[in-house]
Amino acid sequence: MTTRWIATGLSHDLPNGAVMAGQWQATELAVWRSATGKLAAWKDRCPHRGMRLSHGFVRGETLSCIYHGWVYGTDGGCKHIPAHPALTPPAAICAEGFACVEANGVLWLAPVGMAEDPPRLVDLRPVRTLSLTCDLATILGVEPALGGSDIIRGSVRIGGQDEEICLLVQPRPNGITFHALCSARADVVQVSRWLEALRRSAEEKVAA
Ligand code: FES
Repeated sequence: MTTRWIATGLSHDLPNGAVMAGQWQATELAVWRSATGKLAAWKDRCPHRGMRLSHGFVRGETLSCIYHGWVYGTDGGCKHIPAHPALTPPAAICAEGFACVEANGVLWLAPVGMAEDPPRLVDLRPVRTLSLTCDLATILGVEPALGGSDIIRGSVRIGGQDEEICLLVQPRPNGITFHALCSARADVVQVSRWLEALRRSAEEKVAA
């Protein structure tokens, strides 16, 4: 298994005070942002009884599990157990953390200890995330101007102009999700429509 940064979402899809499900290869994660904007990513499993932490809720600088309400700080440590309000939770009760950084409006995940920085995506801005019920080869077959594996790039014709498109690929068991970026000068609405058309064409090709 190659250790690398994998895009799991776009910054604008995770506002302050929110939590979302993320994924690094086959590992499911909870990715959340505190009220003051601190990012954290943990395995999507509460240390108590295994409830998904991505189903929890953010309150200030903590994330609470939705099952029995155990409260975790941004460092992953358990801060409060509602059933035992006088107890200081032992340090061993801790969510298992992943590295999570944002760059160019993209949320990147990697195991803790990654030496390199995430890929630099110069002069690109985020557009949207799409999930498709087809594989990458089908997408590349529909739009031959795009090429790559984890990071798909190419110049395509949109609205009468050549625009740089970048798709950050996140494989899923039954398809792929990609997080799309485009050149800074491009019309985001037009790019978004072009992406929808790409999805439709790729899925129709699979269904035919
Ligand atoms: S499973 Fe999370 S608090 Fe019990």
